[in-house]
Amino acid sequence: MRSLGRKSISASAQPRDLMQERELENTWTARVLTLYPDMFPGILGQSLTGKALKDRLWQMEVTDIRQFGLGKHRAVDDTPTGGGAGMVLRADVLDAAIASRPVVGPLIYLSPRGRRFDQAMAHNLAAGPGVTLLCGRFEGVDERIIESRQIIEVSLGDFILTGGELAAQAMIDATVRLLPNVLGNASSVEEESFSSGLLEHPQYTRPNDWGGRAVPPVLISGHHGKIAEWRRTQSEKLTQDRRPDLWAAYQARKDHEGS
Ligand SMILES: C[S@@+](CC[C@H](N)C(=O)[O-])C[C@H]1O[C@@H](n2cnc3c(N)ncnc32)[C@H](O)[C@@H]1O
Repeated sequence: MRSLGRKSISASAQPRDLMQERELENTWTARVLTLYPDMFPGILGQSLTGKALKDRLWQMEVTDIRQFGLGKHRAVDDTPTGGGAGMVLRADVLDAAIASRPVVGPLIYLSPRGRRFDQAMAHNLAAGPGVTLLCGRFEGVDERIIESRQIIEVSLGDFILTGGELAAQAMIDATVRLLPNVLGNASSVEEESFSSGLLEHPQYTRPNDWGGRAVPPVLISGHHGKIAEWRRTQSEKLTQDRRPDLWAAYQARKDHEGS
């Protein structure tokens, strides 16, 4: 068996116990820097991502920023230079927290100013060794830590969260489910929304008639070619109606492939 480079593995360990140290070589790693370490693994400790964490298909390492705080009160923030409301996380404190362990993969600051996270980014992250995520709080971080560490800013969407932790968990969830062997059925990743550049077609299950609403007859025809064609048409229609931006990009790609 391939050595996993780990000291000992306890089969009964819970996700919470599995996230303190980076113990496995060659295992996709999410390193998270946060003022709220107890928020992790959070939702990631449940269901498919939690099982995968237990099965060592990925690992989580949490750095508690507070441990690098200054003085008796371990201060991590200060007032905004130039005035204004709220507090700003200090660059020196964040730098020490980042330096305390090796950075894995790209170093990302979850930030509403960043490039919007999407499925393509999840695929890129899943193809690498992992990711290091800095979770902001208050008014955010001192700009100089972003410059000096060349941190990439990534946003979950055009809204303001209280902190980066929820955004980090969403990004890790979207990425971990793309790792090999995490999902039972790899084809479900290939077929779902965004993978082909289109939104997914409508889904149905039993009963075939529910309160007078019948499933589309083609889906119970047993004709695989016609089912695939129906699904494709539905995907295209939905994308055209709901996401003109995706539809335009999809058409441009098709034109490019055809030329
Ligand atoms: C209250 S927010 C700070 C917002 C900041 N003052 C601004 O206006 O851009 C605190 C932290 O939450 C996180 N955050 C908030 N909204 C986010 C989003 N849409 N995507 C990713 N992270 C977000 C960031 O880490 C941010 O530092």
